[in-house]
Amino acid sequence: MKISNAVAVVTGGASGLGEATVRNFVEGGAKVAIFDMNAAKGEQLAAELGRSVVFRKVDVTDEAAVRAGLDAAVGAFGRVDVNVNCAGIGMAMKTMGKEGPHDLGVYRKVLEINLIGTFNVLRLAAERMAANEPNEDGERGVIVNTASVAAFDGQKGQVAYSASKGGIVGMTLPVARDLAFYGIRICTIAPGLFLTPLFEALGEKVVEQLSAQVTFPRRLGRPAEYGALARHIVESPYLNGETIRLDGAIRLP
Ligand SMILES: NC(=O)c1ccc[n+]([C@@H]2O[C@H](COP(=O)([O-])OP(=O)(O)OC[C@H]3O[C@@H](n4cnc5c(N)ncnc54)[C@H](O)[C@@H]3O)[C@@H](O)[C@H]2O)c1
Repeated sequence: MKISNAVAVVTGGASGLGEATVRNFVEGGAKVAIFDMNAAKGEQLAAELGRSVVFRKVDVTDEAAVRAGLDAAVGAFGRVDVNVNCAGIGMAMKTMGKEGPHDLGVYRKVLEINLIGTFNVLRLAAERMAANEPNEDGERGVIVNTASVAAFDGQKGQVAYSASKGGIVGMTLPVARDLAFYGIRICTIAPGLFLTPLFEALGEKVVEQLSAQVTFPRRLGRPAEYGALARHIVESPYLNGETIRLDGAIRLP
């Protein structure tokens, strides 16, 4: 599917990897609806990028809010062709630690936003995509989810995060199979360590130490590199049902 004139919904689009995706898609001639909880950043980005972008304050776990956001996207741009899911959170806590067993509320919250939120948006976006006229390749839509290398090499304290991202990897093939009938593809990107606001806040020294763990190139990933892969997935009809590590061959110890 060509990116030019495509209509994309990008969750978590106000920051980091989502923001880089929004910028890449707009540069490629797409229209984008940003769904994010950070209204200040989302509105600022939409204002900067102009008429090709709308922002909606949408909690990805809230069914009614996602439906209303999709209505707004269709109202503004006529349809939904692409859905990139970047909204996510990370919280560090061990299965059992000095404070006792892992707080179940924290575990539920991480699963709720990262895993259920992702599925909530993609299933409702797929409903809109299914109404599209297929293109010459028979495509009606493309979904890109965001896992993490923590789905495969989760570290200490990442049990909730890794479980949520493992779920995203696990849903990729069955969603591809479920949606094939409608001409909708899905791929998942599993990023390594990317220089997003979270990592920038850790300071130069920590960034240097983390960079040393990357096989090659020996640096953190650039959000623009995530945006470029998301676009490549949209534009490559034969990519489907797969999780792609984007990580400079890092394997977390
Ligand atoms: N940065 C990395 O190195 C890295 C590595 C692996 C995976 N990831 C994953 O990539 C995705 C993006 O990460 P990032 O580094 O760009 O993070 P980020 O914090 O910069 O951006 C995430 C965005 O999601 C939004 N968000 C959080 N909860 C939400 C909710 N319930 N509804 C709607 N929006 C919500 C936040 O407001 C924020 O704008 C996440 O899923 C993260 O787990 C990031």
